[in-house]
Amino acid sequence: MKEKLKVILENASKEIKACRKPGEIESSRVKYLGKKGELTALLRGMGSLSPDERPIMGNLVNSAKEEIEALLKAQKERVMVFQKERRLKEEEIDITIPGIRFPRGKKHPLTKTLEEIKSIFLGLGFSMIEGPEVELAYYNFTALNIPEDHPARDVQDTFYINDDIVLRTHTSPDEPRVMEKTKPPIRVIIPGRVYRADDVDATHSPVFHQIEGLVVDEGITLGDLKGTFDLFVKKLYGEHMETKFRPSHFPFTEPSAEIDATCFVCNGKGCRVCKDTGWIELSGAGMTHPKVLERCGIDTSKYSGFAFGMGLDRLTMLKYGIEDMRLLFENDIRFLSQF
Ligand code: DAH
Repeated sequence: MKEKLKVILENASKEIKACRKPGEIESSRVKYLGKKGELTALLRGMGSLSPDERPIMGNLVNSAKEEIEALLKAQKERVMVFQKERRLKEEEIDITIPGIRFPRGKKHPLTKTLEEIKSIFLGLGFSMIEGPEVELAYYNFTALNIPEDHPARDVQDTFYINDDIVLRTHTSPDEPRVMEKTKPPIRVIIPGRVYRADDVDATHSPVFHQIEGLVVDEGITLGDLKGTFDLFVKKLYGEHMETKFRPSHFPFTEPSAEIDATCFVCNGKGCRVCKDTGWIELSGAGMTHPKVLERCGIDTSKYSGFAFGMGLDRLTMLKYGIEDMRLLFENDIRFLSQF
């Protein structure tokens, strides 16, 4: 019996020390100390011993039991440490690994310029509206006093959907649209995409952007147009900027003008960008033609107005020194990320 006890103890010690999980320790406990365990079986067998041997064996079995219990307890503690260490290893974070960079988007230069322009005009009490890109020929031409035989109506220049519907060639059709709906005073800017049957090159695109401006109120004069536009240019490009008006012709304004501003590349000295004139052309403009006002039901004995229409793409190219308009439409991230 003593022999048996020795074997049990040796096996138990080996087995318990090999345990790596709490479940394994529990199995060992059951195997040796449980109701059907090996040590319990040994205790039961003591009935066959002589009365002298019994207490001696009883002591031995009890101390073996204590020994196994101690082994189990010690191993349990070791297993906890193992487990903690393993978990720490698994969950280890290497804080020296560079983080994952998420590329940040940027606003398109056209959007940036438009936002600046918008904020300048909103500051002057204008509001911003938008109109349809697919437009009635009536608003695009007729309501603007553009005669039936005007070259701008030619299919060479204009994309026609059918005889009466076009892709708007400018943002001016939104002028009569607002005037039909709104009673003066009117102070609006109207940005948007416009379309012309042009071939693509460094300064032309069949799709480009304009910003229209319209003011209608009592006593509006050319002086208001000059003052407003001059202030706008100074806010957009700098206080040193000057503007001048050059006589021009548009069917929907009388008088009409092209507005030039100091070339901000050479500051008026003359360079490649301004073709040595010291000035660059920024906008068409004029006093709204009385025929246009009257067609919209506006009383010209009381009200007058001014309007202007400028190319957003051109303003943006000038602002950022972009020399090829195609860059604005190609959406090359390497180009766009510079702004
Ligand atoms: N719509 C004209 C164009 O596309 C530009 C223009 C000129 C707009 C004079 C105006 C204006 O409002 O008054 O060429």
